[in-house]
Amino acid sequence: MQDYHDFLSEVLISETQLAQRVAELGAEISRDYKDGNLLLVCILRGGVMFLTDLMRMIEIPLAVEFMAVSSYGAGKRESAGQARITLDLNIDIRDLDVLVVEDIIDSGHTLSSVLEVLSTRKPKSLFICTLLDKAERREVEVPVRYTGFVIPNKFVFGYGLDIDEFYRNLPFVGVVDLARYKPES
Ligand code: IMP
Ligand code: MG
Repeated sequence: MQDYHDFLSEVLISETQLAQRVAELGAEISRDYKDGNLLLVCILRGGVMFLTDLMRMIEIPLAVEFMAVSSYGAGKRESAGQARITLDLNIDIRDLDVLVVEDIIDSGHTLSSVLEVLSTRKPKSLFICTLLDKAERREVEVPVRYTGFVIPNKFVFGYGLDIDEFYRNLPFVGVVDLARYKPES
């Protein structure tokens, strides 16, 4: 695989900025859910790094579940239309305060499908915590309660976010210069 330095056009959010914001979100969530029954639902795979950092910053009891979705009818760098659940929760979420933890909201289609499914299971509450929000790209409204950073419409990677499934391990969020990125053929 290509060294990311070859196509990194800028570090959009540094490791320090991420840690600072994630701590703030954790404190907010701890306050808001202190009398609740919190279940974090992480959307695989992009949400994993955010989840593990965020949950360390939450000081109230919580449980964690995972979900995976794949969007279809879409190009490689965007999603469109419906998303299909490829990994579902293991528990009944009735009476739980569900907070969906996602890496990024772009059009909103992925999370909209996830919420549609989860809401039919009658959780006590259902909200979203997203690290990144490409707000200007939104096509469907979704109930975002917590946002880490609103970002411009650029393709980003690192801190859980991938380019063709790689580079999720980088500790910062970077912008890809797609002209310099060479996909493996
Ligand atoms: P949406 O359904 O259009 O909101 O797209 C959400 C999904 O698209 C995210 O969960 C990501 O997997 C992916 N995605 C959108 N923008 C980016 C990006 O800039 N970098 C990496 N993945 C992205
Ligand atoms: Mg994702």
